Amino acid sequence: MGRVALITGITGQDGSYLAEQLLARGYDVHGLIRRSSSFNTGRIEHLYVDPHVEGVRLKLHYGDLLDSSSLRRLIEEIRPDEVYNLAAQSHVRVSFDMPEYTADTIVVGTTALLEAIHQSGVKPRFYQAGSSEMYGAVLESTQDETTPFRPQSPYAAAKVGAHAMVRVYREAYGLFAVNGVLFNHESPRRSPTFVTRKITRGVARILAGLEPALFLGNLDAQRDWGYAPEYTDAMWRMLQQDEPDDYVVATGETHHVYEFLHEAFALAGLDHDEYVKFDAAYLRPAEVDLLCGDASKARERLGWEPTTRFHELVRLMLEADCREAGLDPDTVLRPVEASA
Ligand code: NAP
Ligand code: GDD
Repeated sequence: MGRVALITGITGQDGSYLAEQLLARGYDVHGLIRRSSSFNTGRIEHLYVDPHVEGVRLKLHYGDLLDSSSLRRLIEEIRPDEVYNLAAQSHVRVSFDMPEYTADTIVVGTTALLEAIHQSGVKPRFYQAGSSEMYGAVLESTQDETTPFRPQSPYAAAKVGAHAMVRVYREAYGLFAVNGVLFNHESPRRSPTFVTRKITRGVARILAGLEPALFLGNLDAQRDWGYAPEYTDAMWRMLQQDEPDDYVVATGETHHVYEFLHEAFALAGLDHDEYVKFDAAYLRPAEVDLLCGDASKARERLGWEPTTRFHELVRLMLEADCREAGLDPDTVLRPVEASA
């Protein structure tokens, strides 16, 4: 029999890529989805097969990280070999507006899932979606597994709490529980409220005449941006090791938000000064100025290597958004050689 995985947050960017990769590796994949009045399964529609068809390997279950009884029931029913806890209120700016809900989904939800596993007696390997945001007000120019956390938002503080809880379950009960500390990772499936996708989607829609301008906040922050499917592959690798441990996953390259902006507008042959407007609503009460990860441990122990770099990432996201806006990227964007 193939291995069985449970993914919370399967409808999100990372959950959709991870589900794809696990199915390709022969896993039976179970996903926790929230009840919603409109469809929230757009990112996994291409993987979905009617459950009445024999041999279906992707199954979706209603539940919520805030409903511990559904978690316990699912663990006992599915008896997974691997659990990937990706569900969260994942927007940093929104976490200042909804601090309690953010902490509930991240700290209480993660604890509820760990406890459901512990109580059930099923011993799956467990992956926790930790974040470079946890480093917060950094004092060092690159961050690795030894860098202290100085969280700057309710989201980051909650992720630090969940990170600690995973270690408690690992130490106290011997659970194979792993914290991934993943730096920003993006893709055409990124929610349009995060800055990279907001920019590429905005540029494509301006090109298509669908929007007159793009409103943004702080352009001075620096982020280490990688390509999401490569990061979900790293999650899987962490659970295939002999011992549980914590790993940083990053490209080791950092860029200002304005560099991403310049790059995307330049590819489209547009002058960003004409279209980009400032809106203070997108500022955060406290900002994280610089993130740049050192993924040496993941390289050495997991054999993991980032391959998609900044320029390629901007282009592939912009191309996808052009197609979504009804444009042919080969016609409207600068060719690769001209923009290299
Ligand atoms: P995302 O696109 O925002 O997806 C979040 C997922 O969590 C969605 O499936 C969402 O469901 C689900 N969810 C939210 N609240 C829930 C709840 N109470 N119960 C059950 N499910 C809930 O996030 P992502 O970019 O894929 O990131 C995946 C995880 O990695 C998150 O925990 C995030 O904090 C963390 N992370 C992300 C990055 C990054 O750069 N992407 C970096 C480091 C860490 P709906 O679809 O119904 O909203
Ligand atoms: N979202 C957003 N919208 N961010 C903006 C905007 C805007 O209009 N204008 C400027 N920014 C700046 C933010 O202030 C921040 O400095 C930077 O762009 C990146 O913001 P996001 O794309 O929202 O990502 P994030 O770095 O705050 O958080 C993401 O990465 C974390 C890993 O470090 C999220 O995916 C988190 O869930 C993840 O943990």
